[in-house]
Amino acid sequence: MSYENLLIEKENGTAVVTINRPKALNALNEATVRELDKMIDEIEADQDVAVLIITGSGQKSFVAGADIVEMKDKNAMEGRDWGILAQGVFNKLENMKKPVIAAVNGYALGGGNELQMACDIRIAADNAKFGQPEVTLGITPGFGGTQRLPRLVSKGMAKKLLFTGAMIDAAEAYRIGLVDELVPADHLMAAAKKMAVKIQSVAPLAVQLCKSAVNRGINMDLQSGIQYEDEVWGLCFSTNDQKEGMQAFVEKRKAEFSGK
Ligand code: HXC
Repeated sequence: MSYENLLIEKENGTAVVTINRPKALNALNEATVRELDKMIDEIEADQDVAVLIITGSGQKSFVAGADIVEMKDKNAMEGRDWGILAQGVFNKLENMKKPVIAAVNGYALGGGNELQMACDIRIAADNAKFGQPEVTLGITPGFGGTQRLPRLVSKGMAKKLLFTGAMIDAAEAYRIGLVDELVPADHLMAAAKKMAVKIQSVAPLAVQLCKSAVNRGINMDLQSGIQYEDEVWGLCFSTNDQKEGMQAFVEKRKAEFSGK
């Protein structure tokens, strides 16, 4: 498939997708969000890809938000449709069967922070900057930011970021749990790829079910979530990978997982 605003490289089971609009600091216009939608279908269907990494082109920016130039003259219904379109794509990304790592290489602002929050695991370069500056533009976040942010950091911290529109640096983002790993900028892709390799070394269906249990369970009450865990845990025992993983342990050898 061909893309105008995305670069896709596939190597050793990992796809690296780079959002590539460097002149606009990789801001998300509608065409790019539609391409992200297509890319998700492509990666999900590709048997040779086990893990997806999303990053931004250049050293300066992951994604500097939704494209303000494209958005500024929208009326209420058009603004709402734009939010619904991107929310749908971010939900689809969050619920992909395959694990998704955000490699945040610079500004992750507005829709950029919302994009990285829709990924499973976030690794930030030490020069990355984060924020939800929408209030400085007279709007609220519209790509899930008011909902995913308080689910990742404290409610008060989410409100502090949302109400002030202030930017925070990568160390602060790591401290508050907005990102999960902090690395020197020149090690970012190596760190993301290393994590992808590590994830590929374990049982793929078990990873997929862990993802489902966390994503679905976090929106349930505790007892319903634990019941759902019972179901996914039970399901594991129908897989060859469970037999192989435990047999390999008993035989003191490395397991060979087939993803079946
Ligand atoms: C369109 C953008 C952009 C954006 C940067 N650019 N961010 N274009 N949309 N979100 C463009 C600039 O216009 C400029 O183009 C070029 O990228 C370089 O940006 P500069 O501002 O010159 O760079 P710098 O001075 O280094 O400042 C970097 C920055 C600043 C701090 C990231 O660009 C900035 O504040 N950007 C906007 C961040 C933001 O508010 N994001 C949230 C958007 S709202 P030219 O042509 O002049 O060179 C949002 C809501 C989502 O995301 C929900 C909607 C429903």
